[in-house]
Amino acid sequence: MKKFTSRRVALQALTEIEEGARANDTLASFLASSGGELSERDRGFVTELVQGTTRMRRAIDHVLEPFLQRKLDSDVRAALRMGTHQLLNLGTPPHAAVNDTVAVTPRRASGLVNAVLRKVSTVDPQWPNEATRHSYPDWIWDLFIDTWGQDGKASLIAMNTPERPTPRPDGYIQGQASRWVSDEVDAASPGGGCIVDLCAAPGGKTTAAGCQWSSLFANEIDASRAQGLQVNIDRFRPGIAVVISDGSRAPFRGGSVDAVLVDAPCTGLGALGRRSDARWQVTEEAIGRLVLIQAALLDEAFRILRPGGVLSYSVCTVTRAETVEVSAQFQASHRELTGLALTGSHWRPHYPGGIVLPHDYGTDGMAMFQWKRQ
Ligand SMILES: C[S@@+](CC[C@H](N)C(=O)[O-])C[C@H]1O[C@@H](n2cnc3c(N)ncnc32)[C@H](O)[C@@H]1O
Repeated sequence: MKKFTSRRVALQALTEIEEGARANDTLASFLASSGGELSERDRGFVTELVQGTTRMRRAIDHVLEPFLQRKLDSDVRAALRMGTHQLLNLGTPPHAAVNDTVAVTPRRASGLVNAVLRKVSTVDPQWPNEATRHSYPDWIWDLFIDTWGQDGKASLIAMNTPERPTPRPDGYIQGQASRWVSDEVDAASPGGGCIVDLCAAPGGKTTAAGCQWSSLFANEIDASRAQGLQVNIDRFRPGIAVVISDGSRAPFRGGSVDAVLVDAPCTGLGALGRRSDARWQVTEEAIGRLVLIQAALLDEAFRILRPGGVLSYSVCTVTRAETVEVSAQFQASHRELTGLALTGSHWRPHYPGGIVLPHDYGTDGMAMFQWKRQ
């Protein structure tokens, strides 16, 4: 028997995710350990099975629930979800979805998985609500609809078929919306000078900085993430100095730098497609906690910025609290700031910045604001 088949690898990864492992890390490590045994196409299929099954968990469980009477072991539940995802969302022919899933199911449960998937293959799902159908927790669904109306619904649906980013010219794989942020940082400071990226790991935006900067500092609070940051800097943009510190008490002199980027920690609600398990982990309470961190980072960025310098704030989320409200609060408490207009036409204008929703261009949702210190 072949040791690595797409479904076998996907089922092992999904079982670990069921047991609490993080989806992106788990998938990456299984793909790495399957070495050259899987073709490029197979690796794509494993990715779809793992990410899609994780993302669509609520919808899948709704369809499975009538056929399950007892609590299941995590590997059996993972097999049922993976088979149902193929039937429900991938249009896999029923005989292939059922037989090929049963073939990789632990033998003790193959009869159960076979019987349940056969029943699932005949159902026409009835959805109790849109959140179940599109597989989001109620609070995320309601927040997007309350904030953005029909655009909120379109955003959530778009995040179920996320962007597949292409590599930059230097080979770094980065989403388009993140590239737009780096473009705005560069465009606002044509004279370059010294820039500090206050929240830098894994280094996507730091390594994308334009060539006008004479010195770049990549700051990161988390030492293990800083190691990954250093690896990316060595590979894609050698010479950037890595600093490990809490960016709300950064070791830079007051008024000393020409530009600061605060690509802040956030709920990531604009990047739910790229992080398939995030919707099941992030909580509504996190918004309030993160807003405080975002405000503290902005205050510190202001402190180290020289008069005439440019401050950029970005987050891959689209909640009002973390975007326009953080921006308005910050500007109101710092009279020496003048808002700048973003140059890219893809931003929905929200002075002094803009927001891209996930369905606008099929990218992550992203928000960005920019000021000049007088
Ligand atoms: C959105 S990510 C940054 C992504 C990065 N700019 C890029 O484009 O690849 C936010 C980062 O901020 C870091 N972080 C969180 N709180 C921080 C703090 N108080 N000071 C500095 N970094 C922080 C997180 O560990 C995380 O690596």
